[in-house]
Amino acid sequence: MRYEPGEETLQLLRTLSEAFGVAGFEDEVRTLIQERIEPYVDEMRVDALGNLIAYRRGRGERVLMLDAHMDEIGFMVSYIEEGGFLRFAPLGGWDARIIPSHALTIKTSSGGFVKGAIGTPPPHILKPEEREKPFPLEELFVDIGATSREEVEKLGIRIGSPAVIAYPFERLNEDVVMGKALDDRVGCAVLIETLRALKDEELEVTVAANFAVCEEVGLRGARTAAFQIEPDLALALEGTVAADVPGVPPTRQPTALGKGPALTVADRSLIPHPKLVEFLLGVARDEEIPCQLKVPPFGSTDAGAIQQTGKGAIAGVVSVPCRYIHSPFSLMRLEDFQHTVRLVVAFTRRCQELL
Ligand code: CO
Repeated sequence: MRYEPGEETLQLLRTLSEAFGVAGFEDEVRTLIQERIEPYVDEMRVDALGNLIAYRRGRGERVLMLDAHMDEIGFMVSYIEEGGFLRFAPLGGWDARIIPSHALTIKTSSGGFVKGAIGTPPPHILKPEEREKPFPLEELFVDIGATSREEVEKLGIRIGSPAVIAYPFERLNEDVVMGKALDDRVGCAVLIETLRALKDEELEVTVAANFAVCEEVGLRGARTAAFQIEPDLALALEGTVAADVPGVPPTRQPTALGKGPALTVADRSLIPHPKLVEFLLGVARDEEIPCQLKVPPFGSTDAGAIQQTGKGAIAGVVSVPCRYIHSPFSLMRLEDFQHTVRLVVAFTRRCQELL
């Protein structure tokens, strides 16, 4: 059955996907989220690292932390050549082979944006053996059309300026959208939609929503947020690896598109408590929501940091399958997004049964 997404939901996905939010530079994303969740929560604050923590008070004492990370992988200007070309360092887990020949957006010190191209030598001048090999990252450069270092600096670009690969959000057909940063703006959207859906309901648990910083550089924000929140139970909401594409054997396809939310049984950062996985499967069954188990042990998530912070928490991961994450764009099915929201909403209503 086709999911007919509301215009509002599509607009939310578009806005979040196109927002600039490289790890450590999440302000724009945070402001967008603050504006949207304000009517749905009792209080919110921004902590020292930049996490946005929002509470929805419940009847009981127990706390459910729902986490989604605001940051996306990107780059940072590392050096400006005399001739106006920029060198850059990766922020987060890039595959260096797929970076060349993309357009880049650089954020300037005044908050403006400058476009550039990640240039490569044309094939005409490469030796045969050079064509066989990917370009090492340190040999790549960004061309913003400037002719001197001074010209670059006048634009407000300096060492440390953050950058992302530029990519518009697009709807490929009724069911499929494509855009940058779905890891993890799709998780942010799931969390916002969950808060919206539960707006007028009384809940047993207090929901602490954490929109985390710096997941892509080592689960940094979620750790300090969990220390403050002291959750009993936690779910990280993610856009995760789908690899259901030609040439990949099923054992190396962590998830597939169209099979609903993916439940993590183990990844490189945590082994969720088995009773949490069972409970999620039960909720999905009762609500007739399709779901899939993510093939272990690929990736790591904020849930790993949350599980081990302070006194520890029962923690797990629910993800929307997305193809091509950690590349310039990713692709997902709107029905998977919708089913994920439904599962997280149903889980939140019932999760005190687990505690
Ligand atoms: Co992620």
